[in-house]
Amino acid sequence: MYNAEINKVIRNRKTVYPTEFLRQELSEKLVKEILINATYAPTHRMTQPWHFKVYRGKSKDTLCKIINKIDKKNHSEIKINKFIEKIRLSDTVVSIILTRDSKELVPEWEEIAAVSMAVQNMWLSCYVNNIGSYWSTPQLKDDYARQINLDINQRSLGFFFMGRYNHRETSKLRDDITQKVEWVKN
Ligand SMILES: Cc1cc2nc3c(=O)[nH]c(=O)nc-3n(C[C@H](O)[C@H](O)[C@H](O)COP(=O)(O)O)c2cc1C
Repeated sequence: MYNAEINKVIRNRKTVYPTEFLRQELSEKLVKEILINATYAPTHRMTQPWHFKVYRGKSKDTLCKIINKIDKKNHSEIKINKFIEKIRLSDTVVSIILTRDSKELVPEWEEIAAVSMAVQNMWLSCYVNNIGSYWSTPQLKDDYARQINLDINQRSLGFFFMGRYNHRETSKLRDDITQKVEWVKN
């Protein structure tokens, strides 16, 4: 028999923005479990291309300082301030980094796919633990990468914001599968 539990989790997972986060602390143990789940994502040739920088507690101030140093020529002050506000509203911000292996065993798109699957593992894990979360990919992620001197073989893929929230089921918009699936019969 088909297990309906997974339907519930996959279909109800959703983006929860930091404005909905409560001022409640997540334990480091819980955050660590979520990060462990991330690392169980599939990875072609076992390159395990993910790297996570975790900012919480005091180190959120460090992240704010890094973001504040970004050249205001490239991004409006409003955008930067909005981003800093998201950091402040979150319990934990995970910087998502792609690290390519030195031999570049597989094409970059496969590594981005693997990291994306790791993020989905985090997102689902957050959902079942009543943690709101969202993946943000602002343009300033590349300036952030420069500020922290990411290695040449690394690339910033954005930020994953996490925080407790008051859970409520909402309907999700998705096209009907008839528009997305073609059953090839012959
Ligand atoms: C790769 C990726 C990047 C995203 N970047 C952003 C972003 O920069 N800003 C934003 O508001 N949402 C971002 N999102 C979240 C999407 O907007 C969200 O997943 C979409 O609206 C569907 O909602 P759901 O996650 O609740 O199903 C991103 C999602 C993905 C998969």
